[in-house]
Amino acid sequence: MPDLAGKVAIVTGCASGIGAATVRRLRQDGAHVLGTDIDEGGAAVCHEARADFARQDVADMALWPAIVEQASARHGRLDILVNNAGIVAGASIEDIDDDLWDRTYGVNIKGPMAGCRAAIAAMKRNPGGASGAIVNIASTSAMAALPGDVAYCSSKGAVRVLTKSVAVHCAKQGYAIRCNTVIPGATETGILDNAEKDIPGLKAAVAATSPLNRLGDPSETAAAIAFLASDDCPFMTGAEMLVDGGAMSIHPGF
Ligand SMILES: NC(=O)c1ccc[n+]([C@@H]2O[C@H](COP(=O)([O-])OP(=O)(O)OC[C@H]3O[C@@H](n4cnc5c(N)ncnc54)[C@H](O)[C@@H]3O)[C@@H](O)[C@H]2O)c1
Repeated sequence: MPDLAGKVAIVTGCASGIGAATVRRLRQDGAHVLGTDIDEGGAAVCHEARADFARQDVADMALWPAIVEQASARHGRLDILVNNAGIVAGASIEDIDDDLWDRTYGVNIKGPMAGCRAAIAAMKRNPGGASGAIVNIASTSAMAALPGDVAYCSSKGAVRVLTKSVAVHCAKQGYAIRCNTVIPGATETGILDNAEKDIPGLKAAVAATSPLNRLGDPSETAAAIAFLASDDCPFMTGAEMLVDGGAMSIHPGF
């Protein structure tokens, strides 16, 4: 189990699913955590996990410096940012309208970019010099596309390259700030519950695409996030960790 004792972390999208599991996991591993969400339900999750909570729309770029300040001022440092909040759009290239495209990109890629920028500014001020770990959450939909969600797939594809750009920038600047991506496959969370309302049987169908023949549990994704956020992997930056039950590893048709 990674040792995160004394580290200070921000986790976005903490009200449910992978974000809630990550708040619990980072707390269990010893980190101080500020969970944020647009949904006030995040307050109860954080209260139960003895974490702090702030309401935040991650797409509002102007809010990011204050969120980072809230986390770092309390403990005098910032060590971890998990850019987890994300939304699906559910529209194909023929159906997507400009507002839905902008909203999806606002949450899924503008938010993580603004988060990385604000977090790096704070991590550079850490006592002892620039240090920290950023974990961005993409999706297997950034590796094999969904015909019915052009904005989700393409914005998650952008997350993968955002990570690499942040990672190599920090490395070239000599900052001990790593940035990595976790790529979840189909995981039992609110996103899939919502999709199941529109497409009955979806959860069973996507579970069957995994060689392990089940959906992931959010705690399994949180474990990968905790590892990448820890000091256990100092040579990992710009990397991608699949948590998909093998779904992206099997040849189509088998
Ligand atoms: N569940 C899956 O199958 C799956 C698969 C691949 C990737 N992911 C990714 O994992 C991440 C977590 O999703 P989840 O599955 O836990 O879904 P979820 O819907 O349970 O959680 C997403 C959280 O993000 C919050 N959120 C939405 N818009 C926000 C905003 N503008 N500002 C702040 N918070 C906002 C929601 O309120 C919610 O609490 C997402 O980035 C998602 O794309 C999920």
